[in-house]
Amino acid sequence: MKRSSLIIAAAFALASSTVAFAGPAEDLIAKEKCNKCHTEKTTKKGPSYAAIAKKYAGDAAAPAKLLKGLKEGGKMGDEEDHKKVPGSEADLKAVVALILSAK
Ligand code: HEC
Repeated sequence: MKRSSLIIAAAFALASSTVAFAGPAEDLIAKEKCNKCHTEKTTKKGPSYAAIAKKYAGDAAAPAKLLKGLKEGGKMGDEEDHKKVPGSEADLKAVVALILSAK
């Protein structure tokens, strides 16, 4: 009994540390339903994250540009009135990093 609860506790600690590492960006993307229009690999209403990453590959200004776009909404790429994304600066940065690292 004691032993199995220890194992459960260890498994839980492991799982939650993984979530903490990959967390805020995925959470925000899920919460804001970005997946309605964007997925990692397929083009829906908006481009896939992989396509966005490819478009901005080698562009050192991309993270700041996309961060501003997400924070303020309005024009992004060819979209004239993109959704404005609520969230802390740190979380939005994490979202941008996630998108730009998609393959
Ligand atoms: C209603 C559909 C829709 C939703 C919801 C949506 N987007 Fe978009 N998004 C678009 C379209 C359309 C574009 C423009 C595509 C283009 O330039 O061809 C775009 C462009 C982008 C771009 C790249 C713009 C560029 O400069 O090329 C990023 C980054 C982005 N969206 C992130 C997000 C994130 C993060 C969310 C969720 C918070 C989100 N989008 C939710 C439709 C959507």
